[in-house]
Amino acid sequence: MAIILGIESSCDESAAALIGSDRTVLAHRLAGQEEAHKPYGGVVPEIAARAHVQVLTPLIEAALKDAGLVLDDVDAIAATAGPGLIGGVMVGLVTAKALAMAAGKPLIAVNHLEGHALSPRLADASLEFPYLLLLVSGGHCQILRVDGVGQYRRLATTIDDAAGEAFDKTAKILGLGYPGGPRVEALARQGDPKAVPLPRPLLGSAEPHFSFAGLKSAVLRAVQSGTHRPEDIAAGFQQAVVDCLVDRLERALSQSSSTHSPFVPSEVEGRDRKGSRMRPSTSLGNAENVETAFAGATPGKPKTLVVAGGVAANGAIRAALESLAARHDMGFVAPPLWLCTDNAAMIGWAGAERFALGLTDPLDLPARPRWPL
Ligand code: KG4
Ligand code: ZN
Repeated sequence: MAIILGIESSCDESAAALIGSDRTVLAHRLAGQEEAHKPYGGVVPEIAARAHVQVLTPLIEAALKDAGLVLDDVDAIAATAGPGLIGGVMVGLVTAKALAMAAGKPLIAVNHLEGHALSPRLADASLEFPYLLLLVSGGHCQILRVDGVGQYRRLATTIDDAAGEAFDKTAKILGLGYPGGPRVEALARQGDPKAVPLPRPLLGSAEPHFSFAGLKSAVLRAVQSGTHRPEDIAAGFQQAVVDCLVDRLERALSQSSSTHSPFVPSEVEGRDRKGSRMRPSTSLGNAENVETAFAGATPGKPKTLVVAGGVAANGAIRAALESLAARHDMGFVAPPLWLCTDNAAMIGWAGAERFALGLTDPLDLPARPRWPL
């Protein structure tokens, strides 16, 4: 069994994990930065980078101790090399490089999105390629066809906000604080999802892309009207997100088995979001890249619907996707909640998958704020 040290530092979570290639999580240590960013209502890149510097090495030492290992027992060191807030990514990557150099171990540069995309395979040994993945986080909202390690075909993305961003902004508008997703979900449980009429942007449109900016503005107007209960607004908002995700996935499902070449807008995600998370995201560029990325892909319809990323922790979304999968006679996999939000186990696991294929990286590899999957 190979043992991989995984390091994550691309946003506001510093984490270190030791992962076995047999899917054992030997150790996982995570330090969030919620308190540091709270006064600003979102992640401040400079504060995040400094916090990573302070905690990352002690976290790695603690994880090794938890697993009863020393660095020499590790077979490779995997770290997020992008996309993300560049200061934080550099801290994690430089730490990984220093350890790799000192211990004479190979370095594996992991794309953070690949970490999310492969995380369900850490949780579920029976999950095979190809699968249809809804990747929903604070910085991304994408539908991907995952055909293998390094083989991703992006079928859809958001033309404005990511789903997690919409949750965070709704939380802010409702005065619930940061981070918003879990707080909106908790409040929504007490509300009536039908009480406040809210839009479902792009519902029924031909391409399976997402849009959440209009929904966020409608939430703002509903709050300003002063005529609705906050719990009803939260419930209505969450239901609107669920309806959009389900509708867009239905569309993607009807396209994913065809040879249809999707239109993938470039440079639409990951713009700076003042007062919110500012995770730069990837862009696949153009249709030509899409086809290249898809070269050698497994043909046929994916048999499993998979959800990953921080928003995948939402119970209403998980339940709706599970019934969608059942309607399409597909399996459904959602990682446990701790594996949905940012963590180092998914980076260690993506490292293990790459290591098994002999994919390692040179020590002069640069950190990448943007990095197409
Ligand atoms: O994957 P993640 O930890 O970080 C990024 O890569 O962006 O995702 C964080 C996002 C945040 O926007 C947060 O509000 C959202 O995931 N989130 C949730 C829930 N838990 C986290 N959104 C809705 N419901 C939740 N329970
Ligand atoms: Zn993430």
